[in-house]
Amino acid sequence: MAEPSVEDMNSTQGPNTTQGNVHAHEHMISTSVLVIGTGGSGLRAAIEVAESGTDVLAVGKRPKDDAHTSLAAGGINAALATMDPDDTWQQHAADTIKESYDLANPRTVEIVTQGAEQGIADLERYGMDFAKEDDGRISQRFFGAHTWRRTAFAGDYTGLEIQRTLIHRAEALNVPILDRVYITKLLVADGRIFGAFGFDIVDGSRYRIHADAVILAAGGHNRIWRRTSSRRDENTGDSFRLAVEAGACLRDAELVQFHPSGIIEPENAAGTLVSEAARGEGGILRNGLRERFMERYDPERMELSTRDRVALAAYTEIAEGRGTENGGIWLDVSHLPRETIMNRLPRVFQTMMETQMLDITQSPIEIAPTAHYSMGGVWVDPVEHSTDVEGLWAIGEASSGLHGANRLGGNSLIELLVFGRIVGQSAIAYSSELGAQVRSQSAIAEARAEIDDLLSSEGTENVRALQREIRNLMTEHAGVVRDEAGLAEGLEKLASIEARMSEVGIHPDIAGFSDLSHAFDLKSSVLAARATLECALERRETRGCHNRSDYPEQDENLQVNLVWSPSTGVVKEDISAVDPEVAELMRHEEISQVGKLVE
Ligand code: FUM
Repeated sequence: MAEPSVEDMNSTQGPNTTQGNVHAHEHMISTSVLVIGTGGSGLRAAIEVAESGTDVLAVGKRPKDDAHTSLAAGGINAALATMDPDDTWQQHAADTIKESYDLANPRTVEIVTQGAEQGIADLERYGMDFAKEDDGRISQRFFGAHTWRRTAFAGDYTGLEIQRTLIHRAEALNVPILDRVYITKLLVADGRIFGAFGFDIVDGSRYRIHADAVILAAGGHNRIWRRTSSRRDENTGDSFRLAVEAGACLRDAELVQFHPSGIIEPENAAGTLVSEAARGEGGILRNGLRERFMERYDPERMELSTRDRVALAAYTEIAEGRGTENGGIWLDVSHLPRETIMNRLPRVFQTMMETQMLDITQSPIEIAPTAHYSMGGVWVDPVEHSTDVEGLWAIGEASSGLHGANRLGGNSLIELLVFGRIVGQSAIAYSSELGAQVRSQSAIAEARAEIDDLLSSEGTENVRALQREIRNLMTEHAGVVRDEAGLAEGLEKLASIEARMSEVGIHPDIAGFSDLSHAFDLKSSVLAARATLECALERRETRGCHNRSDYPEQDENLQVNLVWSPSTGVVKEDISAVDPEVAELMRHEEISQVGKLVE
């Protein structure tokens, strides 16, 4: 595979940590396919490209070993039928569409569920160490709302193991990975992508990357809520802003999955996930009065009900004054055998020791719903995940179409495996067929100027503080339960934050350029917040994760996707019909949930 060529531009001056960085060192790189994001979806796509012999470059803003995928816990879905021989991809598709409250794109669902077995086989080929039965079959466990056991796993460290496996494979293929480069802008000429521009988070040098095709794999926007399972500088809506500024649309930004169990304290770790596997292993939920409250909400499935229902139940207990003193509920696994906790929930055990010095074999965990996953994202074609900008694809949490209004746990990891392969192949074909690439010097100048302007800003507003205000307003006005007045108030507060953004001061220092990256995170968060609030206002119904207290019923006229861009506002998009064979499986009687999630 040919390495992307790298040559230095304007290299008369080295890294510069002073403001007004007009003589910044600028690297110029050319590659066939540029992948933005070094989590699971980006790496899987890059591997596909590299395996074909096409040159590829992957860039990301976080250390690759610690990309967000490494946090994924419980497992990855495929109808392998290793445990339950009656499972089929069609049933997996039916469960996914049913649980999406009919907002998933049926074609996308079919592609993922049908391709899932190959996705797992690819991981095995790269050396992934799945949990196995004694006879060598891949173990599969129940996860919420699946008809059969179809979630493969590696303890509760599944994402970490996948990330390690993909890095290992990418390194074996010599995929170049720059994992401290912040992409600030996609470069577009005549409506077609020709690369991206960014800077090095440590030394501030600039990157001008010319590419035939760009794959956006930079995650979602769940960090714009106060309590979130994402860490500080991830999932700040970067994909949304990059795509929209390049001319693409977003879809279903309002559909954000709140996971029922995020920790409450300490404040700087609030929202950190306690895996659904804790309930799967027999964990019990109680309110502040020590009542096992799921009896009131889903007496049959109890703690093993679906994510949207458990999150709403927890929210309701807290909102109606039956929460703990700190505004949470209890998740208790202390009655389980110590061995079960140490073997099946090792990460939950470690997380609670590290963050609170809490021994979960002895004491319950105080939790509350946490913003966990962007089920909406960049608008993509259901089959190829191309966007409406030529040469641009989106994938993983950056994209939309698979999950609708409620995601099945374990479906996101398989999505990135399946669409990583497909998107990689599409980008290769596009690049090899491209006759000539048009570039635009003014687009490049604009990208440079955007960074220069921020670096020369000397205002008194602090980007971190404004980011905090966005998180507060989204929590207050666009959380688990929403209404018209609250969403409108949220938009007013957002407008005032947008106005104050012109008064920020950016101060790179001897430690690096993280202040500049936080400024771009803020720009992305503002755009993602606006899209979310405007779509949430327009979805005047309650469906899955989207609870409107002023519209408590599901409205069949709103069985549509909501497509958003700054110029068009919210536009309804019809959803194609479900294949009759899959639809038939959706009509089956609810199968007993007894034992769900238990390996
Ligand atoms: O709770 C969990 O382990 C989360 C899994 C998922 O979001 O897929």
